[in-house]
Amino acid sequence: MPKRSPDHVEDARKQRAPSSAARPTPDAPTSLLGGLSPAQFMKQYWQKKPLLIRQAIPGIEAPLSRDELFALADSDDVESRLITHFRKRWSLEHGPFGADELPTPKTRQWTLLVQGADLHDDRARALLERFRFAPDARLDDLMISYATDGGGVGPHFDSYDVFLLQVHGKRRWRIGAQRDLSLQEGMPLKILANFEPEEEWVLEPGDMLYLPPHIAHDGVAEGECMTCSIGFRSPSTSELTNQFLYWLAERGADDAAQPGAKGGKSALYRDPDQPAVAHPAQLPPALVERVAAVLAKVRWSDGDVSSFVGSYLSEPKANVVFDAPEKPLDEARFVARAAKSGIRLDRRTILLYDARSYYLNGEQYLLREARKWLPALADNRFLDGKRFVTLSHDSCVTALLHEWYCAGWIRTGELA
Ligand code: SIN
Ligand code: CO
Repeated sequence: MPKRSPDHVEDARKQRAPSSAARPTPDAPTSLLGGLSPAQFMKQYWQKKPLLIRQAIPGIEAPLSRDELFALADSDDVESRLITHFRKRWSLEHGPFGADELPTPKTRQWTLLVQGADLHDDRARALLERFRFAPDARLDDLMISYATDGGGVGPHFDSYDVFLLQVHGKRRWRIGAQRDLSLQEGMPLKILANFEPEEEWVLEPGDMLYLPPHIAHDGVAEGECMTCSIGFRSPSTSELTNQFLYWLAERGADDAAQPGAKGGKSALYRDPDQPAVAHPAQLPPALVERVAAVLAKVRWSDGDVSSFVGSYLSEPKANVVFDAPEKPLDEARFVARAAKSGIRLDRRTILLYDARSYYLNGEQYLLREARKWLPALADNRFLDGKRFVTLSHDSCVTALLHEWYCAGWIRTGELA
């Protein structure tokens, strides 16, 4: 069966804009967190201990139907995995999966995981709005899993903070705060060697379980079910160090490439005092000393760290491609449309800011005049028509926003 193109998948789904009304304010108690305010939740549970919340989102429906999820898993630019546990053997396959490549819903003990659903569907992205009491810089993605009776991914742990929201059918979760996180050897996926559950619940649609990193857990479907995992990444110190040093090196290369930079000559290693050697293969201790002296001079400022963090954490995932509008409006028409319907960030756009800069999809720009409007656009992911009209008096702003619109980073359009 031919694979459906991403465009086909796109057309097949209703596209709705995110609703900023769903974003909880820090001090307001919310049923999403079992009556706690986000401020209380962050203080008492975030990164500390699990929390089970019954009816966090009463009446919730899966953001995508089963068939829509399967269609997504059939697309080349979507990360999907099929995990089966047939005859007590774990197996893992990576997508895309054609409709005839998945077991039937009547077959027991399989699960389909679709990563980054928020990047591909506005309804999935809208669900994330509810979780924006935690910083966007920590957000990873929304994964949607579909499982048949008895399906799951086995007992494991994650290095993520995760909210496991049941959106269809039932799933039995068992969790434990065990120290022994050793894994079974020779498995195609991470399965704990000695899972020791301490607590157990059956989650129904609307129920949610928050788990901090490294809590052992196992979720098994009771009948057909769907679960949304809202994941927050915690980059490891080695990832941050590697990426920062890489960023620093790249920036150094850019500086040296600047015309008139003094870098060229002084940046060369020099050894005018090197004597002739009888053992050419021996590493000269003086060379190591010189390199150590050069490295000791590597300096960076807090500003460099902010630039790196903002750029790195606003970088879209490798598989993200922005769709430019098919027939882009010219600037005047764009301004007229946006004045009526407002503008919103595309669901794939990551826009962060600090006191000095903003970071748009991995690039840093100085805030300057944009400080008057950009933080509101970044926090709400939307600016209404009225606000846009006040901005439209400045032709630099409309030119900039029109550029973003042509690149597919923002769209015109109302909130749902
Ligand atoms: C699932 O939704 O099936 C697995 C999610 C998880 O355990 O992290
Ligand atoms: Co997990």
